[in-house]
Amino acid sequence: MKTMEGNNQKTVLITGASNGFGMEFARLFAKDKYNLVLVARSEDRLKELGYSLQDEYQLEHVCIVQSDLSRPESPQEIYDQLKQNGITVDVLVNNAGAGLHGFFHETDLTREMEIIQLNISSVVHLTKLFLKDMVARDEGKILNVASIVSFMPSPLMSVYAASKAFVLSFTEALQNELKDKNITVTALCPGPSDTYFFKRAEAENTRAANGPMSSPEEVARDGYAALMKGESRIVPGIMNKVQAGASNLLPDSALASTMRYQMEEMQEEDRKTPESKL
Ligand SMILES: NC(=O)c1ccc[n+]([C@@H]2O[C@H](COP(=O)([O-])OP(=O)(O)OC[C@H]3O[C@@H](n4cnc5c(N)ncnc54)[C@H](OP(=O)(O)O)[C@@H]3O)[C@@H](O)[C@H]2O)c1
Repeated sequence: MKTMEGNNQKTVLITGASNGFGMEFARLFAKDKYNLVLVARSEDRLKELGYSLQDEYQLEHVCIVQSDLSRPESPQEIYDQLKQNGITVDVLVNNAGAGLHGFFHETDLTREMEIIQLNISSVVHLTKLFLKDMVARDEGKILNVASIVSFMPSPLMSVYAASKAFVLSFTEALQNELKDKNITVTALCPGPSDTYFFKRAEAENTRAANGPMSSPEEVARDGYAALMKGESRIVPGIMNKVQAGASNLLPDSALASTMRYQMEEMQEEDRKTPESKL
């Protein structure tokens, strides 16, 4: 961990800040003069981002924390390091996450157990540690990055979608538990977005990865606004809102069929433009 200078502003901890949504969150918080704690495995990328934001927005402190959140020990290590450095986390953004594409009977179990540790256990563990301190101060904000697939089973991404259903359920239960406190917990449920997510999940040839995409800037902007207003849930983008709404009307088996189609590899037919199909 690298700490720079003293601190008297509010501090946000963002997991998965080296890419995608997390990087955009870092930019938005920096613009509003939050001090940053940036967590991911890619230390160089975090340093490049953190130091440039510190210069641009004259932030009082930026901490770079290289950590692999698929290790069960990582959340406690991060918490202890921040405590030792006297850093209070006012806002926690549980954003780091990953998926894996394929039939469950064929995918790699070790990788899936790491995904469960990253997408579920590290979110629970970090929230436990930092929420206790927020409750003691009666102040704080948490943003948990769930997904549109939190609302529907997703064949060919079964473990990932189930992990995001957990994140949404967990977030909504905490909202109720904390309703009389000065602490908000917000769930961000993006649809397919233009980050490294699909490539890393080995899902870049799926229909979902080749259809309409939100930009990470749009998603982070909507998530940031909802977090700041203390909203319970935000689904960025009109089509995603429609899809999330439809999930209340359709049976899960129908949702699973739709998602399976989306998660299947593109076929030659899918690549043809409407004109070339004539
Ligand atoms: N993109 C989409 O379509 C989409 C839609 C809905 C929800 N989401 C969710 O949005 C969140 C952000 O994903 P993204 O789309 O921005 O994807 P991304 O571009 O792949 O970024 C993922 C971030 O998580 C970090 N990360 C991955 N594994 C990690 C680990 N083991 N330990 C610590 N950090 C780790 C990565 O950093 P390092 O590699 O440097 O560790 C990176 O900063 C995830 O929770 C994802 O599930 C994405």
